[in-house]
Amino acid sequence: MCENAPVENKKKVLSCIQPSGMLTLGNYLGALKNWVAMENEFDCTYAVADLHAITVRQEPAKLRAQIHSTFALLLALGLDPEKSTLFIQSHVPEHAALSWLLSCYTQFGELSRMTQFKDKSAKHADNVNVGLFSYPTLMAADILLYKPDFVPVGADQKQHLEIARDIAVRFNNIYGDVFTVPEPYIPKTGARVMSLQDPTKKMSKSDENANSWVAILDDRDTIIRKFKRAVTDSEACVRVSETKPGISNLIAIYSAVTGKSFEEVEREFDGKGYGDFKLAVGEAVADELAPIKAEYDRIITDKKLLEDLYKSGAERAERVARKTYLKAMKKVGFVL
Ligand code: TRP
Repeated sequence: MCENAPVENKKKVLSCIQPSGMLTLGNYLGALKNWVAMENEFDCTYAVADLHAITVRQEPAKLRAQIHSTFALLLALGLDPEKSTLFIQSHVPEHAALSWLLSCYTQFGELSRMTQFKDKSAKHADNVNVGLFSYPTLMAADILLYKPDFVPVGADQKQHLEIARDIAVRFNNIYGDVFTVPEPYIPKTGARVMSLQDPTKKMSKSDENANSWVAILDDRDTIIRKFKRAVTDSEACVRVSETKPGISNLIAIYSAVTGKSFEEVEREFDGKGYGDFKLAVGEAVADELAPIKAEYDRIITDKKLLEDLYKSGAERAERVARKTYLKAMKKVGFVL
């Protein structure tokens, strides 16, 4: 596709990320790196999903810092606020408003079946709030307001995208063509990054063992140290195998960072030991993340720049969101 094609000819992509304190290499290789890659081919809208964050209890000052930090990270990744619409979800009130509307077109039963709800309500048994339950209708609103053709989501969000599609179809069947029914977007490259300490589990910042995950903003020495300590096996052969989840994970990470295929990686380290390989992976990851961290450190102190960008992003987003929201309201029968 032509890079300079007018925006209207490009397919639209929408995605959001929660403002969690420490975004990991898993978030980067599984999602954010693709956000950047999609920027030229698609008309992209990306948001910090701060409203989603309060389904679990948050400390106000910390939440505020994390929202700033996540927005700054989007810029540090190299996303261009001229090309893509970058904003903070709560700055566009249509998200919460459409979510109410959609909740009246969503069945209690279908939300009860969401696996993430079942998992999270078991984990936070003392705070099974209604927001945790209705979270997929807010996510559906995030998506449907912008009429995207594609929504890139990881495996854990597929069920939520499915429900957004079901809600859109249901609404359109009653009121006509209001929402676009989006397709999931499966990126050409990317990796499901597993824990460095237990490679049968997904890499997660909530893991108590800090050696099991790498933060996007970790410094070089920390990154290399964590890779050196990565759990492997005793075969001493760099090859992908279901019986070698640790080494397979490191190969997938190295491949995602360098763009080399698994076979090329296996050939490159043929006859070499795990020590050499782990160091190479650590260095490649550190090299990739270093400029992002440097840019982040610069941007996060520039409050004025951040504020200008999230305000103009929200204005741009709201112009689109408002139109869809009003159309849906009108169709339902509200007086505008
Ligand atoms: N629920 C997603 C997550 O936790 C984040 C999210 C919110 C999202 N709204 C979205 C993702 C809309 C894609 C589209 O990862």
